[in-house]
Amino acid sequence: MSLLSIRDLVTEFESPSGTVRAVDGVSFDVQPGEIFGIVGESGCGKSATCRSILRLFGGSQARISGGQIVLEGAGDLPGLNERQLAQVRGRDVAFIFQDPLTALNPTMKVGKQITEVIRRHQKITRAEARMTALQLLKDVQVTSPERRLEAYPHELSGGLRQRVVIAMALALRPQLIVADEPTTALDVTVQDQILRLLRERRDKLGTSIILITHDLGVVSQICDRMAVMYAGRVVETGAVREVLDRPAHPYTQALLAALPGRVGRDHALTPIEGGPPSLVSPPPGCRFAPRCKHAQAECSIGAPPPLHSREGSSEGHVDACILTEVAHVPA
Ligand SMILES: Nc1ncnc2c1ncn2[C@@H]1O[C@H](COP(=O)(O)OP(=O)(O)O)[C@@H](O)[C@H]1O
Ligand SMILES: [Mg+2]
Repeated sequence: MSLLSIRDLVTEFESPSGTVRAVDGVSFDVQPGEIFGIVGESGCGKSATCRSILRLFGGSQARISGGQIVLEGAGDLPGLNERQLAQVRGRDVAFIFQDPLTALNPTMKVGKQITEVIRRHQKITRAEARMTALQLLKDVQVTSPERRLEAYPHELSGGLRQRVVIAMALALRPQLIVADEPTTALDVTVQDQILRLLRERRDKLGTSIILITHDLGVVSQICDRMAVMYAGRVVETGAVREVLDRPAHPYTQALLAALPGRVGRDHALTPIEGGPPSLVSPPPGCRFAPRCKHAQAECSIGAPPPLHSREGSSEGHVDACILTEVAHVPA
């Protein structure tokens, strides 16, 4: 049974230019102990999809206007009231954001922030919580952990701050960690260390992780399965090896073709021309059609095509392109 099952999710923001349908019919499942990657260009709805899970929309005018988000043991999350959802936050599902500063209170010492998270959900003494916090910092390989407990967030480097945020996310042993571009703001060495920490956690405790990234290298490195999003929709999903080695959707193919590492002797680097459509009034049919070099007239008609498996594809590898003849990207 899936740990998390998202079905036909629709999430909208009110903006001065109209209703932005940031997430428009997204479905995917996350299995226990799996690292699930979500990729796609900036603005395609990756964050909005994941923020919908716990309704973490900050101050913005957002609403979930359709679909289900079922977490095993907690039920349909959009149906929970604020008090019930507060129980799920942190205890069952923890978030790690791109910018650790937004997750930390600038006026509170690191140690106190971690112990407060723990004491909000567990009846233990301050001293016990402090011991747990210390161990958590050690777990995420923070050097001089005793000293860090007494530090304020601004006194730490970006990498250390993100480790503190991860320690807080791990504190209650959630079943699911959602990491939204957790390493984008960090340098490459620190990025590797942080990704390794997340993978170790999964290996040791079977924690499921949703990892949002725009970096296909990161997905290839640590994810088991993945979804590719375009303009508020999932256009392809499957095992990472399947999707990256045998991409079916022209958008996935174009993303891979644009990777510098893929440029061979005979291949020019081909960035995808044009930009994604407006999510206030998206075009009919396949939303990638206006940029797709394989597009035919039929691609721009009717509702966006649903995910389907195609002949010869492995189990669970589905895509939303109606042109089944599209050639696979040459190796
Ligand atoms: N608070 C908001 N108000 C209005 N529109 C928003 C808001 N947040 C995100 N959006 C819009 O929703 C779409 C998806 O955004 P987001 O989920 O942040 O994309 P991603 O994480 O893939 O970069 C974008 O078109 C973005 O402009
Ligand atoms: Mg985002």
